[in-house]
This record gives sequence, C-alpha cells and structure tokens, in this order.
Amino acid sequence: MAQSVLEQLTDLVKVLALVIYYWLVAIVKSVLPASIQGKDVSKETVLITGAGSGIGRLMAERFAKLGCRLVLWDVNETGNDETASLCRSSGVTVKTYTINLCSREDVYRVAAKVKEDVGQVDILVNNAGIVTGKKFLDCPDNMVQKTMEVNVMAHFWTVKAFLPEMIKRNHGHVVNIASSAGLIGVNGLADYCASKFAAVGFDESLRFELQSMGRTGIHTTVVCPFFISTGMFEGAKTRFPLILPVLKPDYVADKIVDAVLCNQTMLCLPRILYVFFALKGIIPAEPGFHLSAYFGAHNLMDEFKGRQKQE
Ligand SMILES: NC(=O)c1ccc[n+]([C@@H]2O[C@H](COP(=O)([O-])OP(=O)(O)OC[C@H]3O[C@@H](n4cnc5c(N)ncnc54)[C@H](O)[C@@H]3O)[C@@H](O)[C@H]2O)c1
Ligand SMILES: *[C@@H]1O[C@H](CO)[C@@H](O)[C@H](O)[C@H]1NC(C)=O
Ligand SMILES: *[C@@H]1O[C@H](CO)[C@@H](O)[C@H](O)[C@H]1NC(C)=O
Repeated sequence: MAQSVLEQLTDLVKVLALVIYYWLVAIVKSVLPASIQGKDVSKETVLITGAGSGIGRLMAERFAKLGCRLVLWDVNETGNDETASLCRSSGVTVKTYTINLCSREDVYRVAAKVKEDVGQVDILVNNAGIVTGKKFLDCPDNMVQKTMEVNVMAHFWTVKAFLPEMIKRNHGHVVNIASSAGLIGVNGLADYCASKFAAVGFDESLRFELQSMGRTGIHTTVVCPFFISTGMFEGAKTRFPLILPVLKPDYVADKIVDAVLCNQTMLCLPRILYVFFALKGIIPAEPGFHLSAYFGAHNLMDEFKGRQKQE
C-alpha cells in the first residue's frame, strides 16, 4: 500500500514538473521571433484550399517566398491561376487544381491526383470558407449545408486523404483556418459559427490523437481571427475598432505563416480575443450578454453585404 501512495506521489510530481517545464518553454517560444526559432520549410510541399483569393492567396505567396512547392486548390479557376502566377515569380513549382470542396468524392479524387503529380503533402492548410450572413431562420437550407461542407466537412476529407502519409513519416502540419466565430457565438452567424466551432473542435481533438500516438513530428494549428478586410465580410462592422480592429489581410497572413513555422497550436487575432475567450468561460450568461452587447457583438452583422452583392 505504502508503495502505491509513493507511486501516486511520483506521478503527481512528474506531471507537475512536465507542466512547469512546458509552460516555461511556451513562454520562451511566445517571445522569440519566428525568424529565430522557425522551422525550415524550404523543401516542403504546401497544399492550400481556397487559394484563389484573400488569405489563401497571401499565404501561398509567403510559402512561395520560403521556397515551398505549392499545391493550390480552389473552385474559382481564374483566381487560383492568378495566385499561381504570383507564386511562380518566386521561382517555385506550383500546381493548381479546380475543385469543389462540397464534394467528398471530388476531394478524394483530386487528392489522389495530387499524390500522383507531386507526391506527399507536408503542410495542409484548410483555408477555404464561405458565409451566409443571415439570421438563422433566413438562411436557405442549401447554404446551411454548403457552409458545413466547405468550412468543416472538407477538412475531414483532406485530413483523411493526407494525414496517413504524415503519420507514416512522423512529419507534417495540418492548419485549420477557423475564426473568432469558432470560439464565441455571433448573432447573425449561426450556421457559420457552428461550422467554425466544429473546425476548432476537430483541430484540438486531432492534435490530442496525434500527441497520444507519439506522433510529435506532426503539428496542428488552428487560426481564429476576427474580421479581416478581404471582402468576405464586407459591411460587417465593429463598435470599438481600437479594441477589436478589422484586421489587414497581409498582417493576418504573416501571423499565420509565423505560427506554422513555430508549431504554434492556436492563433487568435487580435490578441484581446484570448481574454474574451477566457472571460466567456467564467462570466455568467446574463452579465455576459450585456457585456458582449456593449462591445457590439450582437450588431456585428447588421450591415453585412459579403461578396455576392459586391458584383
Ligand atoms: N475575412 C474574414 O473576415 C475572416 C475572418 C475570420 C476567418 N476567416 C476565414 O478565413 C478563411 C479565408 O477567408 P477569406 O477572407 O480569405 O475569404 P475569400 O472569400 O477571400 O477566399 C475564400 C476562397 O475559398 C474559395 N472557395 C469557396 N468555396 C469553395 C469551394 N466549395 N471549393 C473550393 N474553394 C472554395 C473561394 O473561391 C475563395 O477563393 C475562411 O475560412 C474564412 O472563414 C475570414
Ligand atoms: C473568381 O476570381 C476572379 C479573379 O480574382 C474574380 O474576379 C471573380 O469575381 C471570382 N469569381 C467568383 C465567382 O467568385
Ligand atoms: C517544429 O516541429 C518540428 C517537427 O517536430 C521540429 O523539427 C521543429 O524544431 C519545431 N520548431 C519549433 C519552433 O517548435
């Protein structure tokens, strides 16, 4: 009996030591710039979904500058080709694939083609996303479905297609572009929030699976930004731009690529979102409602126009 108490104590001391050690490592990593600690990705193949526009295009350009071979997926062939030529100016190999991520069969078919054409993917970036931007009862059923298909189901299928090889080589990185709407619900974004909460949960669970399998050479990064001025959320507004600014696409792309290079597991932009997310866990519902109303969280989508009406 005495020994088992001793064993329990040893376990406790061990875990406390691990927690303190990795906490210190995390603090050091959070202050060192990516240029010092970042991993070398110059020989890696990077697949980006939704590369034909916005953040997807900007990330592609950055990975091209880092010397990566690129695989670009988008439903919009014109946009995707434009991104490809921007990347080729860095002298790297770029392959484009026109694909509708709503179709699981398409994802598997094109994934097989990619493996034939370029071999293994080292960094998979699930970035493509869409938004309905209406009160839930006004969301057409087909848009609710499409939102789930593009914003999260497609992540399932790309991961099923590319993770097994990463596991074999104990090498790789899965990046899921979610949203601050994947951490905190938003009035007028119910289907979008549902899809992004799902993407956040998927990323976290997948990371735990990989870690407990001992596949420490494979990393996941989930990205949760507030609004970005790419056009996707045109018209959405923020009450206190000094506290919650609409983000610049270039800034967001820089931060994401840095997070990948540093194996950062979660990236929230702007940083104050970490505070809001923590507060959400401890403030009761009613005061929480009034506080988020004060910060304009319930009116973010009131004047939303999005992409469609731009044209
Ligand atoms: N813009 C924002 O305010 C904001 C904020 C938080 C998170 N995000 C997320 O960041 C990601 C990128 O957003 P963005 O602002 O660059 O958007 P964007 O609209 O500029 O780009 C999205 C790209 O995805 C492609 N795409 C859409 N549906 C597709 C499908 N079915 N199959 C293949 N490709 C498809 C589009 O053609 C487009 O090129 C999205 O996941 C979005 O939800 C955006
Ligand atoms: C496709 O991309 C082109 C080039 O960026 C853009 O002009 C066009 O509006 C996009 N089409 C759709 C349907 O989004
Ligand atoms: C990121 O992970 C890779 C593979 O596990 C490792 O080689 C690299 O040193 C890590 N870099 C950082 C900054 O954590």
